[in-house]
Amino acid sequence: MDIKASEKRRAGEAACAFIRDGMTVGLGTGSTVHFTILKIAERIKNEGLKIRAVSTSKRTTELAEAHGIPIRSIDDVPEIDVTIDGCDEFDPSLRGIKGGGGALLFEKIVARASRVNIWVADHSKRVEQLGAFPLPVEVLPFGHTHVMKTMASEGLKPALRKTPDGSPYITDSGHYIVDLHIGKIARPEELAAWLNGIPGVIENGLFLGIADKVLVAEGDNVVTYER
Ligand code: 5RP
Repeated sequence: MDIKASEKRRAGEAACAFIRDGMTVGLGTGSTVHFTILKIAERIKNEGLKIRAVSTSKRTTELAEAHGIPIRSIDDVPEIDVTIDGCDEFDPSLRGIKGGGGALLFEKIVARASRVNIWVADHSKRVEQLGAFPLPVEVLPFGHTHVMKTMASEGLKPALRKTPDGSPYITDSGHYIVDLHIGKIARPEELAAWLNGIPGVIENGLFLGIADKVLVAEGDNVVTYER
């Protein structure tokens, strides 16, 4: 396992310490939370941990169910106690970019329904200013070229996300993803509000005021950043 993968594993597993019997747990999507899911499954098997989980993607549902984690619909639970998710970037105020894995819409809905949100990350995700990672925006296929023109007119350098065969990437809810190659995001709150005001934009990948803690593997240690 390379250094980044072992950091993802260390951070992902560390988050399991926040999970207790009886909790409803939100499960994020991605290669870091993958290790959280495997560790939760291990605790269910070895310690008899009793939880129910809400998933943020088909991928996560498949992985969790294959390992014996009971998944409930978000609409069948009154509240989520804690959600563990990855991120693509986070800044010193724990504002983040998410959606690299294409699951930002369900991830944001699950996060907003959660009492506590914990992100898990390798050390490369910590940045001083957001924006080097292209900002994912989920858009309706209908009219997406016009939405992209509006974004381009503001210098946001939009690119439609494609699959390896060249067709548009389709999210679990049937939308497209436009990645904005901005470089540095000076005012994330303003940008998030402006993007969500464009007809055809479903949701943007700026997660602001959502993460309560970020667990970051830095070499052999896991460092906790708190808001
Ligand atoms: C998926 C996400 C992921 O949490 C994010 O892309 C981080 O993924 P990884 O843990 O694989 O680096 O937002 O939509």
